[in-house]
Amino acid sequence: MKALLITRDSALHAEIASQGAARVPPLTLVATRTGMRDALDRLVPDAPALVIVDAHDFEPSDADMLERLAKHYPEANFMLLTREHQQDLLIRAMRAGVREVLQLPLNHRAFHEAIDRIAASAGVTSMREGKVLAFISCKGGSGATFISTNFGYGLATLAEKKVLLIDLHGQFGDATLYVSDQRPAMTLSDVCSQIARIDGPFLESCLVHVTGGFGILAAADDPGHKVELKAEHMDAILRVARKHYDYILLDVGRQIDAISLRALDSADAIYPVLQLGLPDIRDGRRLLDIFRSLGYPLDNTRLIVNRYEKGGKLRLQDLRSALGADILHTMPNDYLAVTDSVNQGVPVLRLSRNAPVSRSLAELVESITAHRLPENKGLFDRLFGRGDGDQ
Ligand SMILES: Nc1ncnc2c1ncn2[C@@H]1O[C@H](COP(=O)(O)OP(=O)(O)OP(=O)(O)O)[C@@H](O)[C@H]1O
Ligand SMILES: [Mg+2]
Repeated sequence: MKALLITRDSALHAEIASQGAARVPPLTLVATRTGMRDALDRLVPDAPALVIVDAHDFEPSDADMLERLAKHYPEANFMLLTREHQQDLLIRAMRAGVREVLQLPLNHRAFHEAIDRIAASAGVTSMREGKVLAFISCKGGSGATFISTNFGYGLATLAEKKVLLIDLHGQFGDATLYVSDQRPAMTLSDVCSQIARIDGPFLESCLVHVTGGFGILAAADDPGHKVELKAEHMDAILRVARKHYDYILLDVGRQIDAISLRALDSADAIYPVLQLGLPDIRDGRRLLDIFRSLGYPLDNTRLIVNRYEKGGKLRLQDLRSALGADILHTMPNDYLAVTDSVNQGVPVLRLSRNAPVSRSLAELVESITAHRLPENKGLFDRLFGRGDGDQ
């Protein structure tokens, strides 16, 4: 959203510029004017969607000018930043059609909430209705972290979705390392310890960014358990995340605790990841029994069979009947491509885009997004159409 800011306070200008830039989509200051007179003298040719007016030292004549400026930008929303006890001004502002009045010093949360309201009414909202998809490994090493991280990358790059992955492994979480070489500056425990600050820009600022559209919230790295992770924290994070991301992927790991249970409760779909072998099937059955006892509808639970090789003794049909759940997808065993990717911390779709496992990830992206976005037909062209690949 494009905004005009009227202030002579350079610190306030910098504050609003940085808060605006952190929003998704960003709030861009297209012009700045030092006062109402200046704003009227130098109208912005491309009318802004939002006019933010610092009214802390307003004179009565400024209120007149505010009314005139509002007539010049009839489509714009006005936001007034005031000190306490400027009652007269508030009445004039209401008459001029000012939509939001905030007090200085600026409270960031109130600022973002006001922008959200304006953006929603202007129809430029980024408010999404994100889907929460949980990946959980039935047995240690089944491949849930590899698949969830690389699938997240695929969703963001092939289907151009905005994706957040939350690593719920606790202390031993390593999801960021599968697709990035950045060290996380913030983790899930940091977010929970500052839960009162949670909003879209704050959450976004806590992520390791793999691409512009794909960020990972690193696992809670808090061996001393200084921060108590509560189920309510998960509620707050997911509530905000659903508004700001198209997909929220959960790498659940194997331990089921209060926070991962709450995450599973809110998931739109649960994907247990397992390999086609008896030990995995046994553990998978236990896991699904837990889900049944918790009352999760099994039609939300669909299996991903990893490292699948055709022609083995066990068939997919055996797995389906042993577990009583449908199979969403099979992922081929692709030792070289996966090992290279995991060892280098580079998404396999970037490193070896023609590898069988990359094709399979692209299919998974298509099958999960297709019914929501039928225009995504060109995924394969986008992935494989150009050149001979870079393997
Ligand atoms: N499709 C595949 N083909 C070949 N190797 C794979 C495949 N998927 C995963 N792997 C290998 O299996 C290893 C374990 O995978 P991953 O760490 O994703 O499992 P996990 O289910 O997250 O395990 P944990 O229970 O420890 O969290 C990876 O290091 C990777 O090298
Ligand atoms: Mg894992």
